[in-house]
Amino acid sequence: MAILPVRHHPDQMLRRKARRVTIIDDSIRKLAANMLETMEAVKGVGLAAPQVGVSLRVIVLGLPGEGPQVIINPEIVRRSGVRQIGEACLSVPGYMGEVERSVSVVVKGLDQEGKKVRVKASELLAQALEHEIDHLNGVLYVDRAGGEDKLVKVEPASQEKAG
Ligand code: CO
Repeated sequence: MAILPVRHHPDQMLRRKARRVTIIDDSIRKLAANMLETMEAVKGVGLAAPQVGVSLRVIVLGLPGEGPQVIINPEIVRRSGVRQIGEACLSVPGYMGEVERSVSVVVKGLDQEGKKVRVKASELLAQALEHEIDHLNGVLYVDRAGGEDKLVKVEPASQEKAG
């Protein structure tokens, strides 16, 4: 396993629409393992493959108190509620911004064995899922916050819960 370098805004890799994974093989499982290791090393709550330079629809999640999770080809199939919430991104270090997110979401996708998974999430997990799936579509929270001018500078150490 390896800790991978995280791409930072305005790297163009972060703006590409990532491709769907068609075959889940050892190369995908290795990518996921490296993403999990990278996410843990930088104390993130989520990471999307484009953030480590791979334009594929793979995300990992690691919320405090929950086990690490890998979702391949994730799709939001239901959203409910709206809330304003502070958000940060490992690809935009040193900043935070206010964004609008769903209160809860249902996401479907595949696990590392190719089995279907369906995740019902609320609060921070729902936010992390929306944030990481945005990454797969080339969207950064900066866009949802209304642009870079709307961000607030923070100490990188206080940038918890970034993804
Ligand atoms: Co991010």
